[in-house]
Amino acid sequence: MMGAFGQSGTAPGARSFGAPEAAIQRWREARFGMFIHWGLYSVLGHGEWAVFAEQIDYRDYAKLADQFNASEFDAAAMAAAAKSAGMKYMVLTSRHHDGFCLWDSKVSDFKSTNSAARRDLVAEYVRACRDAGLLVGLYYSPLDWRFPGFFFPAMYRESAEAMKRQTYEQVEELLTNYGKIDILWFDGGGDDWLGFGGLEWGYSAGWRTRDLKWPQEKHYAGKPLWETEKLYELVRRLQPEVLMNGRAASHGDWQGDFGTPERKVGEFDPNNAWETCEVLCTSWGWEPNDPMKSLRTCVQLLARTAVNDGNLLLNVGPTGPGAIEPRQAERLKEIGAWLEQHGQSIYGTRGGPFRSGAWGGSTHRGSSIYLHIVDWPENAIELPPLKRKIVASRGMTGAKPRIEQTPQGIRVSVPPERRQEMDTVIVLELDAPV
Ligand code: GLC
Repeated sequence: MMGAFGQSGTAPGARSFGAPEAAIQRWREARFGMFIHWGLYSVLGHGEWAVFAEQIDYRDYAKLADQFNASEFDAAAMAAAAKSAGMKYMVLTSRHHDGFCLWDSKVSDFKSTNSAARRDLVAEYVRACRDAGLLVGLYYSPLDWRFPGFFFPAMYRESAEAMKRQTYEQVEELLTNYGKIDILWFDGGGDDWLGFGGLEWGYSAGWRTRDLKWPQEKHYAGKPLWETEKLYELVRRLQPEVLMNGRAASHGDWQGDFGTPERKVGEFDPNNAWETCEVLCTSWGWEPNDPMKSLRTCVQLLARTAVNDGNLLLNVGPTGPGAIEPRQAERLKEIGAWLEQHGQSIYGTRGGPFRSGAWGGSTHRGSSIYLHIVDWPENAIELPPLKRKIVASRGMTGAKPRIEQTPQGIRVSVPPERRQEMDTVIVLELDAPV
C-alpha cells in the first residue's frame, strides 16, 4: 500500500504523483481559465446530464451523433474568445459521463470521428490552445453511464473492469497522441465513482431502478479494483509535468495537484493550490436562454477567488453546432476589458496578506498589495497592523484613497463617488516585500 501524499511532497519511501512545483507555479500565475462543456448532449440543449437525468434510451441518445456536426466549432475562435476574457488556459470536456469522445479513441465507437462531424476535435482544440499561447487542459470522466458496472460494480464486475480498462486506455491516448497536456481534469473517479445506486442502464432493460437489498451496493468500496494509484502513475509517466486534480481519487488518497471547489469560492489557503469552477450561466452543458451572470458577478467572483489565493475556471457551454453564444462571448470580452485595466492585481499575485471578509480582500506581489474592495461598509475599511510601512498608495482606476497607518492598524477610505461599482482596487506600495 502506498503512503499518503502531500501537495507536492512525498511521504518517505512513497512515490509522488505530484506535478513539479514550477508547473504548479505557472498555472497559479495564469489565475484564470475557461472551462468548456461541450459534447453530444449539447445537441439536446438540456445540460450535460440529460441522458441520465431524463433516462433517455441510450440507443436514441447515440443516434444524436448523426446531428453532431460541429459545423460551428472553431477551436481557434474559442481560444480567441478565452483570450478576449483575459483567460490564460482552457479545459475542454474530451469526454463527459455520457461516454461520447471528442477524439478518435481506438477503444470506443462512440466518438466524434464516427459522428456527422467526422473530426478529431481534441486535436483541433489542442493545436488552437498552443497557437494562442494558452495552457492546454483536458477534462476526462473516468465513469461512463453506459456501463452498468459503474452503478453496481460488485454485481457487474466484468462491466466495471471494462469501464476501468477504458479509462486507462483513453487516458493513455489523450496523454500520448496530442503532445504536451498541461492539465488533466478528472471528474467522477475513485471508489465512489459518482455511483447513484438504485438506477442503472442496461441495454436490454433500458434505464431501471433496483431495490437495493445490500447497502454495500450503494457505496462501492472498490478501491482495490479501481487502483487509482496506477492511474496516477500512468499519467505521471506519460506527462511528467501535467497537473491533475483530485477527482479520480478515493477519499483520503492523494488529493491531486489542486483542489476543485465547485460553484463556490474556495477558502483562503496559501499552501494548497485550488481552483474554483463556476458556470457563466447556470448549466455546464448548453441550455438555451440559460440566465447569465452579470459582469459584476463575474468580476467579483474572480476577485474573491484571487484574494483567497485560488484560480478561477469559468465555464461556457457552446451550442450543439459548437459556437459560443454571442451574448456569452460579449460577457467574456467585458471581463477581459476589466482585466485589461486591473490585471496587475490578479495575474501572478498571491492571496493575502490581509484576511478576506465581506468587504473583499487583498492580493500581493513583491512589495505591492492590491486591496479588492467589492462591498463597502459605510465609511472605511479597517485592516490589522502591518510590519511594513506603506510608502505610497493609489486607486487603480481613479479612486483617491485615504490611508492612515498606525501601530494599531490601517484605515482605508475612498469618497463614495470615487468608489467602483464592481471592485475598487487600491494599490499599497510598501517599503519592502510583504
Ligand atoms: C460535476 C458534474 C458535471 C460537471 C462538473 C464540473 O461533477 O457531474 O456535470 O462537469 O461537476 O465541475
